[in-house]
Amino acid sequence: MRNEAIRMAQWDILKQLETAGADAEKLNWNGSFAQYLDIVHKNPKTADLAHARVFDMIAAAGATQVSENVRKYNFFENDLFGLEASLAHLVEEYFSPASRRLDIRKRILMLVGPVGGGKSTLVTLIKKGLERWSRTDDGAIYAIKGCPMHEEPLHLIPDEMRDSFKKEFGVYIEGELCPVCHWKLRNEWGGKIEQVPVERIVLSERQRVGIGTFKPADPKSQDVAELTGSVNIQALTQYGVESDPRAYNFDGELNIANRGVMEFIEMLKAEKRFLYELNTVAGEQTIKASRFALIYADIAVIAHTNEYEYNSYFGNKENEAMIDRIFVVRVPYNLRLSEEERIYRKLIDQSQLSEKNADIRGIHIAPNTLRVASMFASLKPSKKAGLSLTAKLKLYDGEKQVGDWDQKHVRELKEEHPDEGMNGVSPRFIINRISSALVKGDKNCINPIDVLRSLRDGLKEFVSGEEDHKRLLTFIDETRKDYDEQAKKEVQRAFVYSYEESAKTLLDNYLDNVDAFCNRSKVKDPITGDDIEPDERLMRGIEEQIGVSENAKREFREGIMRSVASVSRRGGSFGVGSDERLKEAIEKKLFTDLKDVVKITTSTKTPDAEQLKKVNEVIERLVDQHGYCPVCANELLKYVGTLLNR
Ligand SMILES: Nc1ncnc2c1ncn2[C@@H]1O[C@H](COP(=O)(O)OP(=O)(O)OP(=O)(O)O)[C@@H](O)[C@H]1O
Ligand SMILES: [Mg+2]
Ligand SMILES: [Zn+2]
Ligand SMILES: [Zn+2]
Repeated sequence: MRNEAIRMAQWDILKQLETAGADAEKLNWNGSFAQYLDIVHKNPKTADLAHARVFDMIAAAGATQVSENVRKYNFFENDLFGLEASLAHLVEEYFSPASRRLDIRKRILMLVGPVGGGKSTLVTLIKKGLERWSRTDDGAIYAIKGCPMHEEPLHLIPDEMRDSFKKEFGVYIEGELCPVCHWKLRNEWGGKIEQVPVERIVLSERQRVGIGTFKPADPKSQDVAELTGSVNIQALTQYGVESDPRAYNFDGELNIANRGVMEFIEMLKAEKRFLYELNTVAGEQTIKASRFALIYADIAVIAHTNEYEYNSYFGNKENEAMIDRIFVVRVPYNLRLSEEERIYRKLIDQSQLSEKNADIRGIHIAPNTLRVASMFASLKPSKKAGLSLTAKLKLYDGEKQVGDWDQKHVRELKEEHPDEGMNGVSPRFIINRISSALVKGDKNCINPIDVLRSLRDGLKEFVSGEEDHKRLLTFIDETRKDYDEQAKKEVQRAFVYSYEESAKTLLDNYLDNVDAFCNRSKVKDPITGDDIEPDERLMRGIEEQIGVSENAKREFREGIMRSVASVSRRGGSFGVGSDERLKEAIEKKLFTDLKDVVKITTSTKTPDAEQLKKVNEVIERLVDQHGYCPVCANELLKYVGTLLNR
């Protein structure tokens, strides 16, 4: 058996190596222009332009309809959470029409959003995605060999032949040869187009192929050449004239980004001359390098900027013309609690894997810790009377009914604060505070209280205004209140030998009695087997937990019997989760009965043997069944003990 397993593993590795070898061979494809034409003939998409490549890459990952008018694109699924609407806007209103060469591709795609809201992450996903996509069969991309801009080989086809080429190949050719290839065609390749060497390329930011990045720096030291390339002084002395392409380095970010994407960080901080170049490349697909005619470039330009800069830039009349040249996609903060939690889970998973963060590896994160952090981040003020912050948060998170509120109110709530996602607490702040709690002290476990404390301690540096500071402190209190309830529940649950079983027994007991009550019949005594009257005390003990009054009890019980009947008509069986209110009542009843035991057991300084045994059992249950480690399980018990004794 063991040998068999080893053989399988060997076989697997060999198989993988073989595929890798075959892939490498494919990626190293070299041939002539004539051979390239064959490839294009078989698959015209090979000659697609940059926007179409990005669109195909995203579309290839698939999409699912998540609500009536929003589709979720799987391409972003593992990295960006709660941004479905923005991402759908990006794909459907920008990349999709741009991929069909509609005019929108001439605009710069600009991501606008608050700090730490995921703009850079989004661009990185597209950049990294394109690198991978170019290695696949569907994303294969070819270039004239040796071209500094790795240009599309079809540029070799002279203008006068392009119409008939379009008819025969179904491919529209855009753009002219770059100065280098133009020169080589005459001087090296003797004008013989069909023999011009072509190669398959792999896009790579590191190798400076098809992916560029530009970030405004000190304007005194930053030259436009960084975008458009520069004269090669050494070569100039050799070749004599500046207009000789051999004396020019076509290595600006715009040159190398040809065929792919160019990321422009903090675009609105850049000086006019840089923006000018960017507009020309996006709007006219050309780069102007000194001494040369306009050079064609095919680039999807993606810029980003934060909300504040965006507003102040366009608040200035002078900049109005720029509006027409950009396509804005808002990247707001996520507003859903459960998605927020996924952000921190992702960031922690990433850091635990990385070598740099060896110091937080192996640290236990107690249950509810990330939820508490997420809750703090997700709380949003509300003006509606009677709606608590946590209720609003639960509605936003998709809970159907919270008190008197339901999903119908969500739209109203969003209209109340139209810029809700555009400000607030950045995930970066939260994750920094979690990290700080993680590395602080000598504990190897952090719990929700550690995180709340760390958030509170970090607030001063995070917010400037007194007002904001106060508001966030209230959010911490609010979060803490919610957590306290949760903590009590968790401990009480662990105190019951088997929570589910106890709840089910209590429920069944209640239902038997209610059934007898409604039908004016009797119940069987579990011990003697005698017929006895329904147990009014038992029923009321449960109903009182959720405020069902004496006068309303009949109506309530009949309602329950109707749900039981309706569930069984549908072939189901009525369980603890079948009715929300009854579930709450059962839970509360169990806990009330337990309260004194829990209170005494968790807070006694000198537990007797019986109590000690109980505590150990509870801790064991928390560890085995609920994701605690011994450290945080003990801390939880102590914490709940103080809560119950207040
Ligand atoms: N909605 C989200 N889903 C997943 N991760 C997110 C989300 N929002 C933020 N993050 C994470 O938070 C961190 C900060 O995000 P990122 O750097 O992309 O923000 P940004 O918008 O570029 O910020 P800045 O304006 O400061 O440049 C990243 O690690 C990112 O993965
Ligand atoms: Mg950024
Ligand atoms: Zn070229
Ligand atoms: Zn722990």
